[in-house]
Amino acid sequence: DWTMGAYREQALQAIRDQVGDQKVICGLSGGVDSSVAAVLIHEAIGDQLTCVFVDHGLLRQGEAEEVIGMFRDHYNMPFIHADEKELFLSALDGQSDPETKRKIIGKLFIDVFQKHASDVGGAKFLAQGTLYPDVIESVSFSGGPSVTIKSHHNVGGLPEKMGLSLVEPLRELFKDEVRALGRELGLPASFIGRHPFPGPGLAIRCPGEITREKLEILRRADAIYIDQIRKHGLYDEIWQAFVAILPVRTVGVMGDSRTYDFACALRAVTSVDGMTADYYPFSHEFLGETATRIINEVQGINRVTYDITSKPPGTIEWE
Ligand code: XMP
Repeated sequence: DWTMGAYREQALQAIRDQVGDQKVICGLSGGVDSSVAAVLIHEAIGDQLTCVFVDHGLLRQGEAEEVIGMFRDHYNMPFIHADEKELFLSALDGQSDPETKRKIIGKLFIDVFQKHASDVGGAKFLAQGTLYPDVIESVSFSGGPSVTIKSHHNVGGLPEKMGLSLVEPLRELFKDEVRALGRELGLPASFIGRHPFPGPGLAIRCPGEITREKLEILRRADAIYIDQIRKHGLYDEIWQAFVAILPVRTVGVMGDSRTYDFACALRAVTSVDGMTADYYPFSHEFLGETATRIINEVQGINRVTYDITSKPPGTIEWE
């Protein structure tokens, strides 16, 4: 008889068996997966675990504060806030290819974790919130030949070079099971219900070249969009919602002057596990009100579109 309570006990024991008395660092992204992994591992081995939260300059508005508030202040875990904005953003400067962006970000994550593994006094393990769909999507697609659609940086042999072994206690779980485990572990509902957020962050929501200006515009638009979704009581019905800033400026008119600003796309999908998805059928009123707010409140955007592509043939993220 399989219950989450039993799974938890089994997982705690498996972590203790794997890790022994060694130190572990856990990459925290602020997403549900890495949060649940961190809380589970902390329960298993206490302060042998240090969480490393890497601020790569590609986070959403207010994200760093929320994560720090939760793990450092509420859970009181050993916690490193690695402010690496300059490192990541300068390495991404001028890059526009999606896989190149992921590779640069993945490599820098390794460098940063490695640095902190030695700071922490020789951590031997790196913990990640890898889920079952991450494992299969990176191996094959629909049982066909092995094709990598997107090289999620948080999957696969990356730590071989690092001399760290992986601890991946969620590797057999789907998202809904991770959320159930998070509830079992007592994580606040507001955290468990959060939409997924990709490791490469806003880099893959900024197709084409990433600039600090575009990132700032994107953060503002995204915050308004999510605020609208919450105000209309739709957040929990949606698997994931975000804004992508498009690599194109378009002509508009504000008052009696011409504007030449960025276009953006709103994305919202329903899904069970992220493997397939349908676009969310917002009302025209919602879309109109949201577009008006974004254009009025965000300097730098003068056109808003809604992405009505499902997965497949689209993917959830734009890159
Ligand atoms: P796609 O865009 O492939 O996304 O349909 C499926 C789910 O995975 C997330 N995603 C990523 N997560 N690193 C991550 O940690 C990545 O490189 C990455 N790419 C996509 C995406 O946000 C969605 O939840």
